[in-house]
Amino acid sequence: MKLSSLSSSSFFSYIIALFFIISLCVFCGKDLVLDIVPLQYDQMNFKNDNPVLPFIINHTTKGCDIFAGKWVYDDTTMPHYEEKECPYIQPQLTCQKQGRLDTAYQHWRWQPHDCSLPRLNASLMMEMIRGKRMLYVGDSLNRGQYTSMICLLHRLIPENAKSLKTIGSLTVFRALEYNATIEFYWAPFLVESNSDNAIVHRVKDRFVRIDSIERHAKHWKGADIIVFNTYVWWMTGRPMNTIRQPFTEDLKDVKMMKTEEVYRLTMKVMLNWVKKNMDPLKTRVFFTSMSPAHESSKEWGGDLDGNCYNQTEPINNPNYWGKFSNKMMMQVVKEEFQRSAIPITLINITQLSEYRKDAHTSIYKKQWNPLTLEQIANPTSYADCIHWCLPGLQDTWNELLYTKLFFS
Ligand SMILES: *[C@@H]1O[C@H](CO)[C@@H](O)[C@H](O)[C@H]1NC(C)=O
Ligand SMILES: *[C@@H]1O[C@H](CO)[C@@H](O)[C@H](O)[C@H]1NC(C)=O
Ligand SMILES: *[C@@H]1O[C@H](CO)[C@@H](O)[C@H](O)[C@H]1NC(C)=O
Ligand SMILES: *[C@@H]1O[C@H](CO)[C@@H](O)[C@H](O)[C@H]1NC(C)=O
Ligand SMILES: *[C@@H]1O[C@H](CO)[C@@H](O)[C@H](O)[C@H]1NC(C)=O
Repeated sequence: MKLSSLSSSSFFSYIIALFFIISLCVFCGKDLVLDIVPLQYDQMNFKNDNPVLPFIINHTTKGCDIFAGKWVYDDTTMPHYEEKECPYIQPQLTCQKQGRLDTAYQHWRWQPHDCSLPRLNASLMMEMIRGKRMLYVGDSLNRGQYTSMICLLHRLIPENAKSLKTIGSLTVFRALEYNATIEFYWAPFLVESNSDNAIVHRVKDRFVRIDSIERHAKHWKGADIIVFNTYVWWMTGRPMNTIRQPFTEDLKDVKMMKTEEVYRLTMKVMLNWVKKNMDPLKTRVFFTSMSPAHESSKEWGGDLDGNCYNQTEPINNPNYWGKFSNKMMMQVVKEEFQRSAIPITLINITQLSEYRKDAHTSIYKKQWNPLTLEQIANPTSYADCIHWCLPGLQDTWNELLYTKLFFS
């Protein structure tokens, strides 16, 4: 079967185009690698009173559902850093620099109903990951969260003791004095696919090789903390093309399968890899749930033809849930995680991010292709309602991760 014979839809093409535009430039900024003299620091001793979950230092939020809560406007403690203070933010996410005038989206703090989140303490975090490798694996949304994490931490590290380097699918932030790395690995489906090139992944018809993860996963071995995500690339609105054979250029045996079914198989393959490769006594594994999109303002009772463009406030309705977030897919994750009994912590950001129609990059991102006159006349038509400005919502995702890692 030839790929070009597979059908496509305009929504699908739109998403593909969007991703291509977004991913043309991964960390376009200058290379930040410098000569570094490693320093020796005394290891700090933290009491670890939960032998089952490594890294926990205090059960401050144990038993509290930190994902259930509300957004509180707080311009004294938020944001954690200024956009221009963090040189690592890709120009697709530097909203202020790209002309966004309002800043309220940076000042919302997540307040769980039953407890408070510990404030992210960069020096504590760096001490805890001393000598360790922390790795985010997934798509551009996970890359945004990864970038947020290095923005939250980098201030602590002197200019000549840190570096950022991208080679192929792997981006590595290195903190020399701590002998620690925080890394991102591009694998939008986790398993192998025809979208795996970190720069050029514009593909008209997507397929995954459902049984093959090793070509990616060999780069994940030895990680002490892994944060996975995978969702948006699955949402083409049609069945997924699946191949059950290792990588060859030859596309025989392409099979169409229901998206949830292939997603479930992918979860199984990922969990099986975790079981074989991650020691539960020494390492931690996280999975970030689906990131919502705000493509249609009718969904929250706004204009009939609007989207996230020109949205400056969160949604108030506590039950709001947009169409882009497929509950069946979330159910698949829940079921497979329960069934596997592997210690993997879900960072359940979906509901709290549903409220944040104001937090997307919208039109305030670097445009890789010149806009047409039609687009300029109608900004809604090219607003990105999938990705998020930094600083912003994804800093909260990391505070939740931080809380689960050390305080749950
Ligand atoms: C845990 O955190 C709480 C609240 O921050 C604090 O009162 C308590 O002393 C801490 N316990 C330990 C063992 O550090
Ligand atoms: C942050 O953590 C360090 C330990 O690395 C501690 O000494 C310091 O007091 C903490 N800061 C705050 C504000 O809690
Ligand atoms: C740095 O960390 C690695 C593990 O990530 C360890 O093998 C190595 O010995 C450490 N080096 C130093 C100088 O502490
Ligand atoms: C943006 O929203 C405000 C109200 O919130 C409205 O007055 C204004 O006309 C909108 N601008 C555009 C370009 O849609
Ligand atoms: C994530 O959190 C929301 C809101 O608290 C909840 O409805 C949903 O079931 C949770 N998802 C999973 C997989 O636990």
